[in-house]
Amino acid sequence: MGTPDVATGGTLETTAEARSFDLFDVPEGYFDDPQRWLRLLRDHDPIHSNSDGTVLLTRYHDVRRVWRDLSASVDKSEMFLRKFGEGPLLRHHTTGMLFRDPPDHDRLRMIVNPFFDPDQVERFRPFINDLTDRLLDEAADRGELDFVADFARRIPISLITRIVGFPPEDGGLLRSLGLRVLFPLNPRVSQEVIDDGNAAAAEFSDYILEHVRRVRRRGVDGEPESVIEALVAAEAEDRRMSEEEVVQMCLLVFNGGHETTTNLIAVGTHHLLNHPDEYARLPEFTEEQLPGAVEELVRYVTPLQLQGRRTTKDLELASGPLAAGTEVILCQASANRDERAFDDPARLDLRRTSNAHVSFGLGVHACLGNQLARLEAKIVFPKLARRFPALARAGAPAFNENVRFRGLNSLPLDVGVNA
Ligand code: HEM
Repeated sequence: MGTPDVATGGTLETTAEARSFDLFDVPEGYFDDPQRWLRLLRDHDPIHSNSDGTVLLTRYHDVRRVWRDLSASVDKSEMFLRKFGEGPLLRHHTTGMLFRDPPDHDRLRMIVNPFFDPDQVERFRPFINDLTDRLLDEAADRGELDFVADFARRIPISLITRIVGFPPEDGGLLRSLGLRVLFPLNPRVSQEVIDDGNAAAAEFSDYILEHVRRVRRRGVDGEPESVIEALVAAEAEDRRMSEEEVVQMCLLVFNGGHETTTNLIAVGTHHLLNHPDEYARLPEFTEEQLPGAVEELVRYVTPLQLQGRRTTKDLELASGPLAAGTEVILCQASANRDERAFDDPARLDLRRTSNAHVSFGLGVHACLGNQLARLEAKIVFPKLARRFPALARAGAPAFNENVRFRGLNSLPLDVGVNA
């Protein structure tokens, strides 16, 4: 028992431990299981000051409040100029709509939105079905596999490469370029990582431009078949986008579409193996019950864990005041496990009925690809559980060291005797 702390309801020791947490130098073991620290922050320091002056919010109602606030800005031009310097990395992370406020954000989003509505996304069902079946066959032949490299990664990357309009054989190269562009968004990265991000952003942008020019030359007839075609058609209609915006949109959509969904499939499977009763239940779910099960996996995994906003006016949060001009880090990974919002949040419950998770964000920037990610999960998880009811671990899982995109580098599995 420590000394009681009346302000937080905990002890002075737990309050001190929470305040000493540093997102820029996370404690040992954080990548294996961040939830121990996130709970400490929720309970004892919900408006946490990070060592760089930013503020980390971990409670569900505070995260929602800032995310929904139309006055909160995503423009990081000044912050990223200090972090990245001038160059292709800065251009990408300031031109893509994710880092643009309205009205520019809305002008760009309107062009790609129709391509990702639920009806359009359904077009990809046969592709996902066939690819999943093929990968399950390969896994059955192998017996043991690294579930990340041999399965989880291959579905989202094949799909998003095709959707954006790149040749399928380039998927692997583009994935690695894309990750090098994303990694510098993590807090505290070295100059080497930034230089590498700049090189990757330059190479990827040149690659995209080549494809955009190819589509422009041949023109777009009828309904666009890819994101590049949708953008080129919009350009041709009334030039609503600059060439730089077209390129950065392709890169943003591509990057949004692979790592998050890979992590949902891999980390989701890891958690299902920790909850064998839930895994065993999956094949029984009806078409009506399946969406609820997928929502629970998306909540539990929270593939994208953190998001940034800057307040432009004073806000009164449930946990206290937040001054105008604060750089805020919203932690959806913590919000989704907040006892103040969910019953027994640490339990994976595929039959959970009330589940207003925030994994896809809220407000104007809410995830463009949420229907696509949901469709992939609705197809992949039940197929996996039906085909391999005796799926088991064949080694220790290895988590990546990425505080934003939490995922697994490897997950050795044995498909079991019933394959
Ligand atoms: C489980 C998978 C996914 C998760 C957890 C996820 C999560 C998120 C979140 C939290 C945001 C909001 C960012 C913010 O408010 O700052 C977002 C935005 C976005 N996502 Fe996803 N995402 C997923 C899959 C996808 C897929 C498959 C695509 C491919 C189309 C995609 C493309 C985007 C784009 C382009 C944005 C920016 C939207 C905007 O600024 O208007 N995401 N995503």
